[in-house]
Amino acid sequence: MSGALAGKRVLVSAGPTFEDIDPVRFVGNRSSGKMGFAVAAAARDLGAEVVLVAGPVQLDTPDGVQRIDVRSAAQMHAAVLEALPVDVYIGAAAVADFTPRRVSEHKLKKTVGSDTLVLELVRTPDILAEVAVHPRRPALVVGFAAETHEVERYARGKLANKRLDLIAANLVGAAGSGFECDDNALTVYWDGGERRLGPAAKTEVAARLVDLVAERLQA
Ligand code: C5P
Repeated sequence: MSGALAGKRVLVSAGPTFEDIDPVRFVGNRSSGKMGFAVAAAARDLGAEVVLVAGPVQLDTPDGVQRIDVRSAAQMHAAVLEALPVDVYIGAAAVADFTPRRVSEHKLKKTVGSDTLVLELVRTPDILAEVAVHPRRPALVVGFAAETHEVERYARGKLANKRLDLIAANLVGAAGSGFECDDNALTVYWDGGERRLGPAAKTEVAARLVDLVAERLQA
């Protein structure tokens, strides 16, 4: 197949993760998965072989993309590491940062006389940071940063701390951008450069992002 990513294997993680508290409740992130699914489809359009690790989302699998469904951060972590080696990893998932220390086997009950419930949460593995220092590190590791303020400062901090090649940042809460909507606007930062993508439909922004990924892969 022709295209700027022909012959490349691209791994995308998308959607939220749900961390179970008991058989009927979970802690999760607000994420529709639309941006990650659009990125997977756009990479396929450039000729890549695409593996998509998806958290719990209500979206159809893009044609020609291999999808692996997961629920929790631990499952996403295992599925992503299992998919290595790849040429490019794009971590577009809204991974829960914390998970309950233990999952209750039975539904938690409201106890008479108590108005509070204390949930003990523990950190989940940082999948992106781990892939970026893995012995089978992809040639290009791309992260997302959803920020509510000081976008460039926090995004560039994550670029350096997580040892990424590119970070795609968006301002959450801004109109026409971010979670659960069809449009997005990103600024992508790398060491020595930046590029604004959008505002436009997530499919359009995803296409421009994978164009940039193909360019940086050559650089
Ligand atoms: O540090 P922060 O969570 O804001 O970084 C966001 C980026 O890190 C996203 O690309 C997200 O997919 C990734 N991430 C991860 N594993 C985590 C937390 C975040 O891969 N446990």
